[in-house]
Amino acid sequence: MDNPNHFADETPFDDYDEHIDPRPEETDFDRVVEAAMSRRGFMGSVLALGSFAALGGALVPSGARAAADRFAFEAIPANTLDDITVPPGFTWEPLIRWGDPITADGPEFDPATRGTGESQAITFGDNTDGMDIFSLGDRTLLVVNNEYTNRSIIWGNRMEGLAADAKPELQDDDILKGMMAHGIAIVELKEKDGKWTIVRNSQYNRRITPQSEMEITGPAAGHDLMKTNADPTGTKSLGTWNNCGNGVTPWGTYLTCEENFNGYFSASDENRERSDTEVRYGINTSDWGYGWARIDERFDITKHPNEPHRAGYVVEIDPRDPTATPKKRTALGRFKHENAECVINPDGRLVIYMGDDERGEFIYRYVSDGVYAPGDETESLMTNGVLSVAKFSDDGTGEWIDLTPETTEMSTAEIAIYTRQAGSKVGATTMDRPEWIATNPLKAELYCALTNNKNRGLKTNAGGDDTPVGGANPREANNYGQIVRWRPNEDDHTAMGFTWDLYVLAGNPAVGEGHYAGSENVNKDNMFNSPDGLAFDDNGLLWIQTDGNYGNDGEFAGMGNNQMLAGDPITGEIRRFMVGPNEAEITGLTWSADNRTMFVGIQHPGERGGSHWPEGGDAVPRSTIIAVKREDGGIIG
Ligand code: FEO
Ligand code: CA
Ligand code: CA
Repeated sequence: MDNPNHFADETPFDDYDEHIDPRPEETDFDRVVEAAMSRRGFMGSVLALGSFAALGGALVPSGARAAADRFAFEAIPANTLDDITVPPGFTWEPLIRWGDPITADGPEFDPATRGTGESQAITFGDNTDGMDIFSLGDRTLLVVNNEYTNRSIIWGNRMEGLAADAKPELQDDDILKGMMAHGIAIVELKEKDGKWTIVRNSQYNRRITPQSEMEITGPAAGHDLMKTNADPTGTKSLGTWNNCGNGVTPWGTYLTCEENFNGYFSASDENRERSDTEVRYGINTSDWGYGWARIDERFDITKHPNEPHRAGYVVEIDPRDPTATPKKRTALGRFKHENAECVINPDGRLVIYMGDDERGEFIYRYVSDGVYAPGDETESLMTNGVLSVAKFSDDGTGEWIDLTPETTEMSTAEIAIYTRQAGSKVGATTMDRPEWIATNPLKAELYCALTNNKNRGLKTNAGGDDTPVGGANPREANNYGQIVRWRPNEDDHTAMGFTWDLYVLAGNPAVGEGHYAGSENVNKDNMFNSPDGLAFDDNGLLWIQTDGNYGNDGEFAGMGNNQMLAGDPITGEIRRFMVGPNEAEITGLTWSADNRTMFVGIQHPGERGGSHWPEGGDAVPRSTIIAVKREDGGIIG
């Protein structure tokens, strides 16, 4: 892109790890489609199951679909406006933007400097992501991840007069500012006369950053691989970063999920030979441009090779106790965690479904040993349990394979730290980048967004596992993505078996052929690519947020900017509800307690220099959470 604010090396976020190990050239499109349809007999195998809607609405009689319209909005067309678009009868307004103060004495955002290390530590971080609302008496607390930062934007003040591909002359404080833009924000909200604002003097408001103290719990705690010079006990680490999706426990704590934690480490010895485990987790001798090792040597793997073992976890945070230390839950495994979807099984055990968002990685399930009872201790529920990994068969069935010392020949601590290798050992199914997993509130059924996988069938994953076309990943060089759903046998979330089908194959019916046109519930009016965020509302509609190609041309022609849609699991119908501003993804979704406000996250507007949202004009683009309402004040999901 031709603009002075774009770093020539600002690679798409999901592509950094590909640099050192690129895939072969793409194969011929027609051949690819043929292969997907005939080699595995995908359509036939799923239809043979007799599933009521093997491909979304494909098998639903048209009359049933018309009769069961549960949508409370009119679908809107795609667009490429640098704005938010919602259906007639709905309104939106910004709630909080990158750099907005969250304390009484916090500084207002300064577009000239774009903040400092000090100001960023007490203001809202960059790139809003997973979030949830918690009620505390009549108080409303919002807990939200600030996943990462766009260097071209946060350091844009250093770019003036420089050539398009020149890096700014960074000060140490610029690096610190970037670091402090990561983490979690906890803020109290209040609604007055229909407008939500931040309660800036609330005792609950705080930032959790890459410098905040963490407690390491579970099987990895205290293991030699977790020990560092600064922490010889292997039980206390500093910070959490690249916090992507989230979860909420039945006892009302927040789970934040460390995703691309690897991109922050580098080595002072550039010739350092990487270990197999570093290769598998993308730990490299150079970072992704954040420069953290320059101001904090724990990010230098030459000096501190165990430090990366202390990241890549789900972290539990108690928003109701401002003094509570966040707890890293190693029993839930170490990988690029997307979100952590919690379910209480009918027998009381806690079950957590999780995806590892990298091409060819796995879907996991955690089952607690103990049962949840309101008011009882909950600590052991996330430290003692069994982690399993999913295997999807072509016939529409699947199984969970336990990761234990017996199945993996690894210790429980090693399984917690090198979870990906454990999954490979038991033959888990390599997936098309598992993003969010959401549970249907009306039945025992899980949905997972498999966002895309250009390497499918063309390249192994980082551990050397094959990525054959088939089953839940039916398309070679899959640039559109799909949503897989599964139902535990006998509605028991701890059962070892499940059945699965595809809710939707995203595609482009205008230019795509065969499976690349998408499933029957995709049409020219609702098409999209790269499903990512998923959340159910209380009515059982599935909200789908996209983080995909917004070029609006070629195989993405007609799809416009990233968007949010709603799908009806019963009929298969999908409608577009929102279109985001330019060069943004939509991520993070939660509702007010009365369901009259929907909070939606808008991440990385203008990541390539092509947006001034939300202020417009020549303003600096800012990641922002918006509050969406019905004009008539009615319930919205
Ligand atoms: Fe942070 Fe996989 O999205
Ligand atoms: Ca995501
Ligand atoms: Ca994504």
